[in-house]
This record gives sequence, structure tokens and C-alpha cells, in this order.
Amino acid sequence: MSEALEPEIDVEALASRGVDLEVAERVAPDRDIAVKVGDPLVQVQNLTMKFGGLTALDNVTFDILRGEILGLIGPNGAGKTTCFNAMTGVYKPSSGKVLLEGKSLGGLAQHKITRQGLARTFQNIRLFGEMTALENVVVGLDARHRTSVGGALLRLPTHVREEKSAIERGMALLEFVGIADHAQFLSRHLPYGYQRRLEIARALATDPKVLCLDEPAAGFNPAEKEELMQLIRTIRNDGYTVLLIEHDMKLVMGVTDRIVVLEFGKKLADGAPAEIREDPRVIAAYLGEPEDDVA
Ligand SMILES: Nc1ncnc2c1ncn2[C@@H]1O[C@H](COP(=O)(O)OP(=O)(O)O)[C@@H](O)[C@H]1O
Ligand SMILES: [Mg+2]
Repeated sequence: MSEALEPEIDVEALASRGVDLEVAERVAPDRDIAVKVGDPLVQVQNLTMKFGGLTALDNVTFDILRGEILGLIGPNGAGKTTCFNAMTGVYKPSSGKVLLEGKSLGGLAQHKITRQGLARTFQNIRLFGEMTALENVVVGLDARHRTSVGGALLRLPTHVREEKSAIERGMALLEFVGIADHAQFLSRHLPYGYQRRLEIARALATDPKVLCLDEPAAGFNPAEKEELMQLIRTIRNDGYTVLLIEHDMKLVMGVTDRIVVLEFGKKLADGAPAEIREDPRVIAAYLGEPEDDVA
């Protein structure tokens, strides 16, 4: 056990929640691993995104609390991905604000928002296909390195040391998401489910405060979905805050602490999963959706 861990952390409780402390320690040595659900970590305020005449996101306001798994759900085309894109700098919002720990992210480029601590995956997987799984993760780690490009070219001792620790941490991340046995596979040769997990590992490599997942279980069978939800729980129990976009209502009910529902770009409801499931407006919004998407 490393000294970096606070003495009051209940190791057994964490272990029973699926957190391997040794792996967690290698994944992010500087991070608090037992955070309490608490203050708003992210504040989305009146966020609006227009595409020409279409208002894809209309004056949407919600908070993401530290340490929670917040679900963002809604029928196809409701504006979930647009909300992510407007939050993470893919699009510049037409109006409204996104604050991380009280600081506005407005106008920052994507990579700067990532560096501030908001990491994401994409609904359509975006990996470097010709790189190995491990290399894909190490790329994510690179943003954190202190060495200059000159130092890297000269291979100064600091750079060599950082390279070694990057590989160790990259391997720990692959282990954390359960694909370490495929570390040397080119990412395009990985089974689909592994590619999804690799995307999560790469996002975690940036050492985020908030991990935003856009339909991470898309295309999975029910057993694979359940395994992925278990991984998301483990990620949260390990101290990360998670925003989970999911189309399948049944799936988010079991894993989220709170849920925000979008419909036609507007916030329709937010609340605890049990409230959302009973909400007639939410049930109505999902009517007409394919059978297996309805709770
Ligand atoms: N770049 C874009 N240009 C024009 N329209 C877009 C763009 N991105 C999304 N939209 C539209 O915004 C609406 C919301 O889409 P999206 O956020 O992808 O929904 P969801 O992720 O909830 O399924 C849809 O009508 C979609 O066609
Ligand atoms: Mg989407």
C-alpha cells in the first residue's frame, strides 16, 4: 500500500465495490480515490446550440455533482451528443455556459478543455487504428508530460524516465479496463468491445476530473452491456465523476445516481432513476422508440 493513500480510506469497502487499489494507485497516483458525492463539479447553464434553423440544444441547464454517475438520456436526435460536443469544445455553443469547478470553459479549444479535466469518448469510435492498444493510451498520457520536444529529441534522462512511467501507467490503464492481454494488438485488430474499452482507457489517461461517455455500450449484447456498466461503476467508485449518455433507458437505471432527460433539445426532466422511470413525460417521450430501448 502506498503512502499516497489517505489513512481513513476504507480499503475493504473499496475492494468490495470492485476497486483494485493497487491498480488504481498506478493509474493515477496523484488523485483522491475516495471522493464524496458533493458540490457541482460541472455546471451547464442555459446551453444552446443552433445549426442554421435547427435548435439542437435549447437552453439546457444541469449540474454534474462530484463523484456521481449522471445519466443523460433521451430518444434518438434529442440532442445528447450535441450537448457533449458543446461542452467539450467540438462546437462553440450559440449561447450559454459550461463551468468546471466554477471556471468557464467558454471558447477553449478541445485539447485545452481536456487538459482542464473534461475527457470524453465518442459515439463513433475514434482510435488510431495503426497504433497498438498501449500506444493509443500513451498518446493520451503525453499531454501531461513535462519534457520539451527538444528534450525528447535528445532523449534526456527525464524523457527516458517519463517514457518508462508512461508505459507502466498505460499498462495499468489497460488492466483497469480489462484489456491488458491485448496491449500489443493494433487497435483496428481489436474486437469491437475491446475498442470501446480502449477508448475509455485513453480518456482516463488524460487524468480527467469528469469522464464523459457517449453511448459506450452501443452495439453490445446484454451481457456485454452489463459488464460495461460494471466497469463504469468501478470507474466511479475509483473516484472519477461520470457523465453517461445512453439511449437505452433500462441500462442507465441500474448504474446512474441521477438522470437528465432531453427531448427535442430541451431538458424534459431530471431526478433519481426511480422518479424518471415513473415520469409520464419521459414514458411518453420514449413511446414509439424500438421495443428494446424502452424500460
Ligand atoms: N453538425 C450538425 N449539423 C446539423 N445538425 C446537427 C449536427 N449535429 C447534430 N445535428 C442535429 O441535432 C439534433 C440532435 O442530434 P444529436 O445531438 O446527435 O442527438 P442524440 O445524440 O440525442 O441522438 C438532430 O436533429 C441532428 O440531426
Ligand atoms: Mg448521439
